[in-house]
Amino acid sequence: MLFSRHGFLAPSLISLLLTGSAVADDARSRARDALQTLQGWYNPKSGIWDTCGWWDGASCMNTIADLAALDPSVMDTATYVFNNTFNIGPVSNPHPGPEIKTVFTRDNHQSSAVNASQWLNQAYDDDGWWALAWIGAYDVTKEGTYLELAEGIFQSLVDAWGTNCGGGGIPWNPTSTYVNSITNELFLSVAAHLANRVPERKEYYIRWAQKEWDWFTSQDFIGENGTINDGLLENCENNGATVWSYNQGVVLGGLVELNKASPNNTYLPSANKIAKAAIETLADSNNVIHEFCEPQCLPDGTQFKGIFIRNLRKLQKASPHDLYRKVITSCADSIWDNDRNEKGQFGVNWAGPIEAVVDASTHSSAFDALVAAVAVLN
Ligand SMILES: *[C@@H]1O[C@H](CO)[C@@H](O)[C@H](O)[C@H]1NC(C)=O
Ligand SMILES: *[C@@H]1O[C@H](CO)[C@@H](O)[C@H](O)[C@H]1NC(C)=O
Ligand SMILES: *[C@@H]1O[C@H](CO)[C@@H](O)[C@H](O)[C@H]1NC(C)=O
Ligand SMILES: *[C@@H]1O[C@H](CO)[C@@H](O)[C@H](O)[C@H]1NC(C)=O
Repeated sequence: MLFSRHGFLAPSLISLLLTGSAVADDARSRARDALQTLQGWYNPKSGIWDTCGWWDGASCMNTIADLAALDPSVMDTATYVFNNTFNIGPVSNPHPGPEIKTVFTRDNHQSSAVNASQWLNQAYDDDGWWALAWIGAYDVTKEGTYLELAEGIFQSLVDAWGTNCGGGGIPWNPTSTYVNSITNELFLSVAAHLANRVPERKEYYIRWAQKEWDWFTSQDFIGENGTINDGLLENCENNGATVWSYNQGVVLGGLVELNKASPNNTYLPSANKIAKAAIETLADSNNVIHEFCEPQCLPDGTQFKGIFIRNLRKLQKASPHDLYRKVITSCADSIWDNDRNEKGQFGVNWAGPIEAVVDASTHSSAFDALVAAVAVLN
């Protein structure tokens, strides 16, 4: 029953919600509702969403782009966000960074429209999120400026190539020697996405994606259970740190894109192995994904699960498995039934109940699962 785990909701309120057109039970209208609720946090003056941070903003925008690709009725909202965030977003960059060495545009000269430096914040993973988000915006608008921006961001990541672990990969940020999974998965994914979108430099991006993947698999990121740990120790051994859901996700989308750009019969099997190990480790008996930090996740941890599902959906399209479909739809249904407050906002524990902070990060992460459900139910 709807809200059965939320004893505080009066029956009259439940029936009010059920009769309102805002609560429709098909996947598309759920996702549209979730978008509308998310936009309650969008701040036109900051270009990101109040109550969540800089890189989370990229994640929110990426999810909106994904929905717009599936549901043209939200295109106006999406293009408004892209345009406004493109123009205003840099004011929210918390640590405008010196990390870029070369400013790179599609014509190899400074274009007036795009200055990728403004999107770099001295954390290479954050930069990677924004590159992916602008690729998502490009996919639905075909606005070349957005793709150019993603290329410029990627070029600054290329400048960071080379760690003390086998001489490859990139570190977490310009001032740290920590070699972590997410930063390198993002490098893979951005390169592979660009390979499928920039014909003039397809081979260049394929080479970087392959170089990253070959290096990644030569290092000790994957732990004993087939899941990816947070990163490597100074001596380059697996650090055994938390198996975050997003670290099991970004790599999937990266491998799907790389396999499309340059087919190789090892890429999808590798992705499937990671996806299955992740579901084994992170899903409960109802196929709902959890984060180890629940229910009191710090701000970053509240964002992760949606990213896993977003990328699982890409794998499901390239290499369908009933299990993936079941996980995606179970998460979406559970979020809707058990993890939604009276304002239509979603919390961090997708199995419910809501017992911790609810903000644009928890909401947008759950929104990802609703968007993925639209895709797999299409
Ligand atoms: C953003 O919108 C303005 C008008 O509001 C338009 O002139 C401009 O071309 C748009 N830019 C992008 C990148 O869509
Ligand atoms: C690009 O942005 C950076 C960081 O905000 C700034 O330092 C630089 O002057 C800008 N470059 C141009 C050509 O506007
Ligand atoms: C592997 O799984 C076992 C059993 O669930 C768990 O105790 C162990 O911590 C996991 N290892 C890693 C590296 O996550
Ligand atoms: C397929 O990918 C693997 C891993 O990157 C690589 O070792 C192998 O050479 C590739 N095979 C072909 C035919 O390109």
